[in-house]
Amino acid sequence: MLRALNATSSSSFSKLFVSHSTLLCFFHLSISSNSKKMEEHRTPSAVQTNIESRSGRQSASLSKSSLKTKVGQSSSLSPSRRSRSPQSVESQRMQTSPKRAIGASQEKSPGSESEEGPFDICIPAIKGLVKLNKSILVLNREKRKELKCPAEQYLRPGMVLLKKFLGHMDQVKIVNKCRELGIGSGGFYRPGYRDGAKLHLQMMCLGKDWNPESRLYDKSRSFDGAVPPEIPEELRKLVDRALNTSHKFLRELAENVEEIPNMSPDICVVNFYSNSGRLGLHQDRDESEESLKKGLPVVSFSIGDSAEFLYSDVRDVDKAKKVMLESGDVLIFGGHARHIFHGVPCIKPNTAPEILVDETTKLRPGRLNLTFRQY
Ligand code: SIN
Ligand code: MN
Repeated sequence: MLRALNATSSSSFSKLFVSHSTLLCFFHLSISSNSKKMEEHRTPSAVQTNIESRSGRQSASLSKSSLKTKVGQSSSLSPSRRSRSPQSVESQRMQTSPKRAIGASQEKSPGSESEEGPFDICIPAIKGLVKLNKSILVLNREKRKELKCPAEQYLRPGMVLLKKFLGHMDQVKIVNKCRELGIGSGGFYRPGYRDGAKLHLQMMCLGKDWNPESRLYDKSRSFDGAVPPEIPEELRKLVDRALNTSHKFLRELAENVEEIPNMSPDICVVNFYSNSGRLGLHQDRDESEESLKKGLPVVSFSIGDSAEFLYSDVRDVDKAKKVMLESGDVLIFGGHARHIFHGVPCIKPNTAPEILVDETTKLRPGRLNLTFRQY
């Protein structure tokens, strides 16, 4: 099949193929007790070095392929609902001391000043200043930019990246919605693991609460009793559209390409990474046995600054592939890719679209990520 795919890729289909091998894994646990690997996961700087050394090779392989470009997405987002999703509970983190687990130190990361109060992903407006609406000129300029490069990329069986799938206006609406929910009840907080180590991000759950300490879903949060907001209907629609696009893309890609199952999200984990935020390699595997068995996909929205995203069959950064997730990208991994190890080793500062950081939206430096799943 791979050969068939590659043949197709160099033909007029011109889709992008990045990696290959499959292997099932799931959420945040599963331990490889190889001491080399353990060390890699414990030392963020080592992780970073490994990534840099691989990046040349990766981007070369990307640039060889051409992308099939598809245009045409926009939708409107409107208010109401909340929830949360699971993250990365590195298995060894739960078993070893905080300092040894990647991404787990007691240090406060910039942007986490909200540990004492609700975290606002946007810079609050200065009192007395009138908030301006975006001018038609700005909106048109953004529209032209976003039409330039939507495309789908086939990363491996079960894994598809929809480049710039979310239009700028959808991104603005998502930021506004996440901001509103994030400062309310059940909103952003800085989660910790069982051993007391803090994650390097702010998190909020929609639909169901995911507890990084117990790695269980619940109706309410154990630490303050708050009930996660529902997932806003507008977000569910975007997920639906992204899944439909990926299905169509895979159907047209080649014969016998593994389909990604459909799903209806009832959980969304919303993360906000400051520029020093990160997330160690982990699997998403706390959803129901049935959901995992069926390979119901995780649908991930990236908004704001770009991030490096690692994925691998094994929990080893040296073996991981890397892809850059930019604002508006939607990554989908289901089927045989549902159990991949994945993580975010770093955020790329000052890469967010202007429209998100300008005077009207004022997203903080950093990256907003929403991962939707079906329990
Ligand atoms: C996650 O794995 O929960 C988040 C991944 C991302 O931020 O892209
Ligand atoms: Mn995850």
